[in-house]
Amino acid sequence: MSAGTLDKNTTIDLRKKHVGPSCKIFFSHDPIKIVRAKGQYMYDEKGQRYLDCINNVAHVGHCHPDVVKAGAQQMEQLNTNSRFLHDNLVLYAQKLQATLPSKLSVCYFVNSGSEANDLALRLAWQYTGHKDIITLENAYHGHVSSLIDISPYKFHQLSDAEHNPSVHVAPSPDVYRGKYRADHPDPATAYADEVKNIIEKVDKKGGKIAAFIAESLQSCGGQVIPPVGYFQQVAKHVREAGGVFIADEVQVGFGRVGSHFWAFQLQGDDFVPDIVTMGKPIGNGHPMSCVVTTTEVAEAFMSTGMEYFNTFGGNPVSCAIGLAVLDVIVKDDLQGNAVRVGRYLVSQLEKQKEKHSLIGDIRGCGLFVGVELVRDRVKLTPAAAEAQEVIYKLKEQHILLSADGPHRNVLKFKPPMCFSAEDVDEVVQKIDHILTEGRRLRPEQSTRSSTHQTRQTRQDMKPPVRKHI
Ligand SMILES: Cc1ncc(COP(=O)(O)O)c(C=O)c1O
Repeated sequence: MSAGTLDKNTTIDLRKKHVGPSCKIFFSHDPIKIVRAKGQYMYDEKGQRYLDCINNVAHVGHCHPDVVKAGAQQMEQLNTNSRFLHDNLVLYAQKLQATLPSKLSVCYFVNSGSEANDLALRLAWQYTGHKDIITLENAYHGHVSSLIDISPYKFHQLSDAEHNPSVHVAPSPDVYRGKYRADHPDPATAYADEVKNIIEKVDKKGGKIAAFIAESLQSCGGQVIPPVGYFQQVAKHVREAGGVFIADEVQVGFGRVGSHFWAFQLQGDDFVPDIVTMGKPIGNGHPMSCVVTTTEVAEAFMSTGMEYFNTFGGNPVSCAIGLAVLDVIVKDDLQGNAVRVGRYLVSQLEKQKEKHSLIGDIRGCGLFVGVELVRDRVKLTPAAAEAQEVIYKLKEQHILLSADGPHRNVLKFKPPMCFSAEDVDEVVQKIDHILTEGRRLRPEQSTRSSTHQTRQTRQDMKPPVRKHI
């Protein structure tokens, strides 16, 4: 029997029987069976169309014909490992490098975001000779052991005894709900000073910082946009301590933010990380990823004498696909689309914010937008149940959106980059309708519309169990 011909209940039963139960499924009480997709739309087994507002892997659009063709043509010809010379590998490395600051010139090709971040840690450890890592509150960097250790998003579920003592957590640079907010005179410096304090504490205990790692914009952590100047100051403190700065662009790279190709560039031209990791959108759904670093870091890694070999990383098919993705981003003006449609999305959501007090904050760049739902705009009480309700009701109306962040109250928009203004209208109108209905059913809910915020202590906010989406 070929794939996609089972009736839905059989698929569910087989999955329950043979797939690990910790591999969670969207909408587990009534999962969706997707059998095909195109652009920003996915279709179930009955032909029902779903608008995809969350799939940042299908970056240039699901099953983009240029990408499919590039992969198929190369598969017909050759696929092998990178121990043979092949033009696709070098041409791809050259083209990818052209999107980055010149000092980031050496690529390592791997197969997933986790592999990329794990290798980034190895590079940092080897280059610096140090061991300690600073990560951000609520961060997620991947599923392998080394990355669970640096992912508070995951390890907050473990006991203290299971935490790696060489990993230190800095506050998330969240100017809406975090320790220093928009009303602070200089949140960038205040958050960077927190990192400096950690470095000093580690030093006093005899530790040494190998790396600071952060997503250029925190995604699972709640669509957080760090204040401009934060990364420059963190990089300065970390480098003075002999460490390196790793920018995780696995979710947010490849032009998603519109104005720039890489989200770290939002901080300004004066900021260049030492290592950048890439994944998800790089292959538009084909499993590939990459680590890019400086010649100094690469040479230090080489100096161990240990060969770095990766069976699938940088194979000719992956590189053909990667090249096609880069071409389509330019050919279809997807960065321009992200700027235009992202701006329109935010403007339409702002109108909803005026109407619905449940919307506490809207933040984003290009097609990376977060909508934080709160029960009270003063106390910032997370509206997690309401966020789930929005997600479930949208699903009933054939729109796929997710909620994340430490309180699971942030609606996350990160659609394929071909998302259109009509798609914005469709999803925003439906959110409007759901919130209007919800208010009718919950009239007791606070309708305070003040935008004034006060600090809330961490104890006020018990995080619900998180599911990684
Ligand atoms: C920021 C970030 N880094 C790394 C990863 C790990 O990528 P992968 O699932 O491809 O291993 C993820 C996955 O969600 C991610 O969001």
